[in-house]
Amino acid sequence: MEFITYETEGFVGILTINRPKALNALNSQVLGEIDEVLDAVDLENTRALILTGAGDKSFVAGADIAEMSTLTKAEGEAFGKKGNDVFRKLETFPIPTIAAVNGFALGGGCEISMSCDIRLCAENAVFGQPEVGLGITPGFGGTQRLARLVGAGKAKEMIYTAFNIKADEAYRIGLVNAVYPQAELLDAAKKMAAKIAKNAPIAVRASKKAINEGLDVDMDQAIVVEEKAFGSCFESEDQRAGMEAFLNKTKVDGFKN
Ligand code: HXC
Repeated sequence: MEFITYETEGFVGILTINRPKALNALNSQVLGEIDEVLDAVDLENTRALILTGAGDKSFVAGADIAEMSTLTKAEGEAFGKKGNDVFRKLETFPIPTIAAVNGFALGGGCEISMSCDIRLCAENAVFGQPEVGLGITPGFGGTQRLARLVGAGKAKEMIYTAFNIKADEAYRIGLVNAVYPQAELLDAAKKMAAKIAKNAPIAVRASKKAINEGLDVDMDQAIVVEEKAFGSCFESEDQRAGMEAFLNKTKVDGFKN
């Protein structure tokens, strides 16, 4: 891998996009490498995934503008699909994902962060969808996920004006869960990942799936999605152990599945 590093710390995987010369911009190769790393994550032993960018200036400064500059219509569509497929894989990844946004999250950078379950950012983070200023629309899910996260009005304002917002504004509109000093960001993400990893893995995964799938359907179908997720946890070792521990006034010493 040239542009991605992947490490694990206990149950937590850390994927770092590392292309500092272009502020970690996403070209086809970077997208391909992210895809490969996701496929290779050991899901038996990994319970949360952190995604971040190398350095303290940029998370991801967008899709690679140099690569996109000469594309034809068909190639543009194919490039959008390539990113969308990878980001959808990330969004539906079986375990929770946390974007640790350590600087610029523009265009494809904002979009990849929105494909994660949770966004934490550094005080110097900048979010935006500058695409219309380049003569294109957002193309890695920005027209869809931003509206779902912050509401259509704010999403339309951000996309039409191509104005960037700073960390405090991203927090105010609910685009990020929390803001930290740059030096504390990764530790904060690791702490949150460790908290997630302490809980019953089957239940955490089923919760993620239920939230994601429920958001795509109406409420009558959504509660059925939840019923299935809820039911699927029963008879698991963790469900038995978790409830038995409560009833015996003890704590589970490490969930297994
Ligand atoms: C390619 C990029 C890049 C990008 C930065 N670089 N962003 N290369 N694609 N998205 C490169 C620069 O060309 C430069 O290379 C080096 O990184 C450092 O960037 P500078 O501009 O010199 O840094 P700075 O002045 O600090 O400005 C930082 C910045 C600016 C504000 C983030 O780089 C910027 O505006 N970048 C583009 C942001 C953007 O428009 N993103 C959306 C892209 S469209 P050299 O070789 O000159 O040193 C998109 C569409 C997604 O994401 C959907 C696709 C289907």
